[in-house]
Amino acid sequence: MGNVSSVKELYSHKQIQDRIVNMAAEMTLNYKDDDEIVVICLLKGGFMFTADLVRLIVRKIYIDFMTVSSYGNEFESSGMIDIKQDIKMDIEGKNVILIDDIVDSGLTIKAVVDHLKLKNPKEIKTCCLLHKRKTNVRVDFIGFECPDKFVVGYGMDAAEEYRNLPFIGTLK
Ligand code: IMP
Ligand code: MG
Repeated sequence: MGNVSSVKELYSHKQIQDRIVNMAAEMTLNYKDDDEIVVICLLKGGFMFTADLVRLIVRKIYIDFMTVSSYGNEFESSGMIDIKQDIKMDIEGKNVILIDDIVDSGLTIKAVVDHLKLKNPKEIKTCCLLHKRKTNVRVDFIGFECPDKFVVGYGMDAAEEYRNLPFIGTLK
């Protein structure tokens, strides 16, 4: 269970942290001092990335969480999502940054964006650490373009295991 030796490293802890420093700088520059930013983290996968990223963004930030499950199997999402826990904060007129661990087909993040738009934010930007394949779903801030393999670690799981790994890898 959770055996680290069964994971082949793809992105080391240092590679991830170095990239996050640059992403946070880019995001800081994207906003003005008095912008009100609400970071929305998709649970559970986005928790570690969000925690590391927000502490390096030098802007006024509010944080909220959302839990969604996407219908489909382990390999393919259908684009239909079930909102298990919605955000608690009022985002009307605010700058939203929606954060997920990994965007694959893009259907999950697109469905969440459509849901959040109904709450009338000023704008919604999307952010993910890993971007798996080319889709026509636009993501504004991307950490790494990642090979089309199933990855775990740094928040991401396989049947709830491996989320606590400080690095990202593939299962051997
Ligand atoms: P999409 O809707 O196809 O973009 O799928 C995105 C969601 O699927 C993410 O929020 C992840 O939870 C999950 N997912 C996709 N690929 C992986 C992976 O390689 N490892 C762990 N979770 C993944
Ligand atoms: Mg997820």
